[in-house]
Amino acid sequence: MCGIVGYVGPRPVIDVLLPGLTHLEYRGYDSAGVALIRDGSMDVIKTAGRIADLVALVGREAPRPAISGIGHTRWATHGAPNTVNAHPHTDDGGDVVVVHNGIIENWAILKRKLTEAGHEFTSDTDTEVVAHMLADLSDLPLIEAVRQVMNQSEGALALAVMRRSEPNVIVGARRGSPLVVGRGDGENFLASDIPAFLEHTREMVIIEDDRVVEVRPGSIRLIDLEGNELEPEHRKVEWDLEAAERGGYPTFMLKEIHEQPHAIGDTLAGRVSETGRVVLDELDIDPDLLRRIDKVFVVACGTSYHAAMMAKYAIERWTRLPVEIDIASEFRYRDPVLDERSLVIGISQSGETIDTLAAVRYGKAQGANLIGVSNVVDSALARESDAVLYTRAGPEIGVAATKTFTTQLVALQLLGLYLAQVRGSMDPGRIEVLVREMLRLPEQVELALGASGEIERLTRKWKSVRDYFFLGRSGDFPVAMEGALKLKEIAYVRAEGYAAGEMKHGPIALIEKGVVVVGVVTDSHVRAKTLSNMEEMRARGATIVLVAEEGDDVGAVADHVVRVPAGPDLLCTVTAVVPLQLLAYHVATARGLDVDKPRNLAKTVTVE
Ligand code: G6P
Repeated sequence: MCGIVGYVGPRPVIDVLLPGLTHLEYRGYDSAGVALIRDGSMDVIKTAGRIADLVALVGREAPRPAISGIGHTRWATHGAPNTVNAHPHTDDGGDVVVVHNGIIENWAILKRKLTEAGHEFTSDTDTEVVAHMLADLSDLPLIEAVRQVMNQSEGALALAVMRRSEPNVIVGARRGSPLVVGRGDGENFLASDIPAFLEHTREMVIIEDDRVVEVRPGSIRLIDLEGNELEPEHRKVEWDLEAAERGGYPTFMLKEIHEQPHAIGDTLAGRVSETGRVVLDELDIDPDLLRRIDKVFVVACGTSYHAAMMAKYAIERWTRLPVEIDIASEFRYRDPVLDERSLVIGISQSGETIDTLAAVRYGKAQGANLIGVSNVVDSALARESDAVLYTRAGPEIGVAATKTFTTQLVALQLLGLYLAQVRGSMDPGRIEVLVREMLRLPEQVELALGASGEIERLTRKWKSVRDYFFLGRSGDFPVAMEGALKLKEIAYVRAEGYAAGEMKHGPIALIEKGVVVVGVVTDSHVRAKTLSNMEEMRARGATIVLVAEEGDDVGAVADHVVRVPAGPDLLCTVTAVVPLQLLAYHVATARGLDVDKPRNLAKTVTVE
């Protein structure tokens, strides 16, 4: 996730771009840059760091006045977040300049071809291929050249492009990643999101997927990827700036819950082949080493620990390797036994949680190999790992993890299947089936989000409920744990996540009328047993809510059933947690709480 902004018109361009980028900083903030064009000259100014660092640099470099410009705030997906990899990117001759949001999945093939044809690359980004491809199409009008590039690029992407020889033109293109045009009087704007231009205009033009748009001071031209002219569709923005930054959602948490289908699509992008194999070329680790591993340790904190629980089931089931999981702050103190044949997987959204860093350092000191799973490119965890798998969820502003959790689940499922593939522990046909099912997850999560209204109505009845239990077995157990944690974090009510079968050994004493018990029943090989456990809760007066797959006849046990799309065991964790995120959200908002900034919590904890 990154932020793009562009402007053509009479205002001082830099004074439009920099505030525009500031409003898009929620989309990413590890590096930023601008490109400005006037009368055959182009200035590119960029830096690692936040927009404030770019503003300071622009102040020092005092760019020449321009008639058009593009800017970018980055959330790295390819290449470390340093100045060289910051956008904009240019071709060898500095004639074309490009900013990009998204992932060009076939960038490696494109880069190889361009390099063979003599192009020299300066960055590690996927984006730079676009600049070099456009340079080879210099005899075409820019809009036509961009159309051709879009037809050769795979994946979700949004682009804004300028060319020195067409100084009053910006061309944008969109597939899967957002892009809108702001329509002014004798000026026009292009941006990833409305807040970037809302202080200048409320008139906008929606750009649909697979469209290319040419923006000049007095005109907006729209074509499709076949080159057909289209009529731009105008809209008026009704939101104020603050609501617009949250995409019209009342909170960042709700926005991030709804971003999950897209985020999961990004996690999967380019990591599976057409033949149903997992392709993790980025995992810079010798496959022979992975074949020699005889034990896996997974360490993490908070929500990431629940992803670790799922990873244990997945890796053990698919690779038959023994897996131990630990809450990171406990790991070192039990003197775990690791050696050169051990694999440690450290999971941390931020990659900066000190407990997790201390745990993985301990593992490395024992000679173990380390794979990091992080959302933040070049985080401390990423730097210290032998290999890293990024979750690509984009920045998460709400303190309670939502999209970063589901993308962790997906990344860890990919990693589990990759280990199985490399070690030959699973039939390739079975891997292919699961890979194809994973590709359906974005659409299935979208369907699961459809239960929001129903869950809100349900939770309205629970204003006085003080005790919740979330129960599940096997793959449903981590989901239950995460459901309970979400509710504790943002609604400040007691919620226990428990293994459903363990309730009878003590906690069942707490069950009485007025307690809500949420059962997760998506893992087929424990389904019957979980349902029996739920009967035990019901017999003692609890209100029973079940999260169950579409078509599964579980009705008799439950007061209410929330449906999620059916899917294979373990993969279902991704969809099953969505109703529980929504449940916590609606209970908290009904209590009038600030879900984005819950009391006593911090997004990243850098103390032990
Ligand atoms: C904090 C946050 C949690 C998060 C945990 C681990 O406690 O409030 O939401 O799950 O840290 O964070 P990490 O960045 O390591 O995944």
